[in-house]
Amino acid sequence: MAWNAVHPFECPTRIFYGLGASAELGTRLAELNIARPLLVTDQGLQRAGAVDRVAEHAHAGGLDVCVYDATSENPTTTNLDEICELYRSERCDGLIGLGGGSSMDAAKAASALLENGGSIWDYRGKDLVPQPGPPVICIPTTCGTGAEVTFVVVVTDPAEHFKVVCAARNLAARVALVDPELVVSAPAHVIAATGADALAHATESYVNLGSDPLLDALNIRAITMIGRSLRPAVAEKQTEAIAELSLASTMTGVAFNMNANAIVHAASTPVTAHYGVPHGVANAIFLADGLDILRPACEEKLADIAAALGAEVSGLTSTEAAQQGVEAIRALCQDVGLPATLRDWGLEPAEVDIPKLVEDAMKSRNITTNPRPIGPPELEQLYTTVLGQVTST
Ligand SMILES: [Fe+2]
Repeated sequence: MAWNAVHPFECPTRIFYGLGASAELGTRLAELNIARPLLVTDQGLQRAGAVDRVAEHAHAGGLDVCVYDATSENPTTTNLDEICELYRSERCDGLIGLGGGSSMDAAKAASALLENGGSIWDYRGKDLVPQPGPPVICIPTTCGTGAEVTFVVVVTDPAEHFKVVCAARNLAARVALVDPELVVSAPAHVIAATGADALAHATESYVNLGSDPLLDALNIRAITMIGRSLRPAVAEKQTEAIAELSLASTMTGVAFNMNANAIVHAASTPVTAHYGVPHGVANAIFLADGLDILRPACEEKLADIAAALGAEVSGLTSTEAAQQGVEAIRALCQDVGLPATLRDWGLEPAEVDIPKLVEDAMKSRNITTNPRPIGPPELEQLYTTVLGQVTST
């Protein structure tokens, strides 16, 4: 699309970010007239004490918080049924999604079902949620999904072994509280994986066909921030680095919410669905080689990425600079301990059904966004590369 054609841009979520942002929870609940919130989270955060710490900010405002802490690693239709039942029986009037993408998606999806009824399957696709549901406040505890600002939810239906994807502006959270203090206690490997997910969002959104100057501004700055903060965030748990990573994740969430991703997310998602490779880890594995396949169609943008990641590109041809961009990404992922290949993660090539992965990847909405046509041959090439590549470690 020409840069000066008509482009939509929207971010209806009010974002409050910075150290201590979650302490504003009581104020934000009051603004939304929520007197009895249902906090949706998972067992890990409950055990770590994060739920009590966040709920205390609501208690300070005189509010009693109801808690659902059984969200699965990937939220399920069963989770949604349980959340809706608890919400109604406890006479709640708003939701808080506290956690990674799973708990935030579960809160957003449950809100849609509480208002519109039916099952999540009824809203599969784009903009099929008729009415906004009860207000949702999202509080991320990782730094990668961007779910606090996206219109997308992904819910697994265990009966069908299928991930239902819904994208609708009526799924947006009303408020996001992006508080790096909640991320500091996350394990280093989780910060590495979710940071790589954010890097995948930023780079894929930056190079894809839906990019435009407004989204570029968010994405290239996010890439710069991730490039300088991911290593110290993982190695030293530096608070300032984690704060920068958290904001970068939200920034690119605002951007990729508008134009989706590209080959990396298209190829990685089936690997997560079939073999359980965590989303961020899978994206890290596919990121450099996926972008390398796109490289002939986006050399200038990959050269920008190289410069944003601190690579020396002056005097290089655009082809050389673009290669530097791909290699800077590969180095960053490997420096924070992420596996370079699926084999490094523990998946043997013989176990993997490449034709099935290709078939599923071709159904992704991230296929048509690529800056060059991507079909089964390119996907097969990518899967073969990330499976068979032997690292030098
Ligand atoms: Fe992602």
